[in-house]
Amino acid sequence: MRVLITGVAGFLGSHLADRFLAEGHDVVGMDNLITGSRDNIAHLAGNRRFMFALHDVSRFIQVEGPLDGVLHFASPASPIDYLELPIQTLKVGSLGTHNALGLAKAKDARFFLASTSEVYGDPQVHPQPESYWGHVNPVGPRGVYDEAKRFAEAMTMAYHRHHGVDTRIVRIFNTYGPRMRARDGRVVSNFVVQAIRGEPLTVYGEGQQTRSFCYISDLIEGIYRLFMSDLVDPTNIGNPHEFTVRQLAEEVLRLTGSNSMIEYRPLPIDDPRVRQPDISRARALLGWEPKVPLAEGLGRTIDYFRHLLAG
Ligand SMILES: NC(=O)c1ccc[n+]([C@@H]2O[C@H](COP(=O)([O-])OP(=O)(O)OC[C@H]3O[C@@H](n4cnc5c(N)ncnc54)[C@H](O)[C@@H]3O)[C@@H](O)[C@H]2O)c1
Repeated sequence: MRVLITGVAGFLGSHLADRFLAEGHDVVGMDNLITGSRDNIAHLAGNRRFMFALHDVSRFIQVEGPLDGVLHFASPASPIDYLELPIQTLKVGSLGTHNALGLAKAKDARFFLASTSEVYGDPQVHPQPESYWGHVNPVGPRGVYDEAKRFAEAMTMAYHRHHGVDTRIVRIFNTYGPRMRARDGRVVSNFVVQAIRGEPLTVYGEGQQTRSFCYISDLIEGIYRLFMSDLVDPTNIGNPHEFTVRQLAEEVLRLTGSNSMIEYRPLPIDDPRVRQPDISRARALLGWEPKVPLAEGLGRTIDYFRHLLAG
């Protein structure tokens, strides 16, 4: 199989490329490096089954040769990034998705959209099953990301229904692990880096908002199974094990042995209070569930950041 992965120099895209290559497939990776880094794919230099194209997917996409899959992962993904890059975020979710779908249609390839739990917004149903339509503020600051992804899902289904493109949609919940950026504003990387540096851990509000965190290898396994399946309707992939942000801060302090304090700051606008995937669909239809416990995943992530920050 030969697949295109957009956003290949990012956190998830680079791990996904590793997985497809490990399965014996060829990968064309595309990225404009707006939030990603060549470091994430440096280990693939010289791999004859991997090719990299520096390109903005919000502009027309051209790829020579046949493709069996187009996996659209390009998008700023952390709140810091999409609040700084609101127009690029809207464009890559709308124009970028349209371009990637057009390419999949032209190549008769399967299309796979990286959507997000943010399509559920600040949810009034908890945990969130795929049948929940969400509670999103379109004009709030986070609307640029949430609405871009909702549009991307609608566009994907339109290409499926109207053009007969073979499509998949994954709704990814918070994921963590090696290759996250140190200062990307996501809670796990923030806490780990702050703890290693001995800086105070920043908790927003009283830290009672909940999150669930999926370790990267579990997520990639779920994505790979979904890509290979025949499930067209959106599928949640995430870890249902739910913690308060404060509990996470305490776990990071324990595992790093750091003496950092916890510092409380006001809650950002439209910050979701609760977030937990209902993964019944993935469990029943993909035989998938997360395997890596939080302490183990955090341990590997802490090792990665210790190495990175020392280098
Ligand atoms: N990490 C998570 O927890 C999470 C959760 C839900 C959804 N997602 C989705 O997964 C995908 C990957 O997220 P990530 O965490 O790896 O983020 P990331 O920022 O590490 O990676 C995104 C990559 O896309 C690239 N990119 C952005 N706009 C582009 C454009 N116009 N053209 C070409 N490349 C472009 C960036 O340079 C970067 O390399 C995103 O679509 C994101 O919305 C991630």
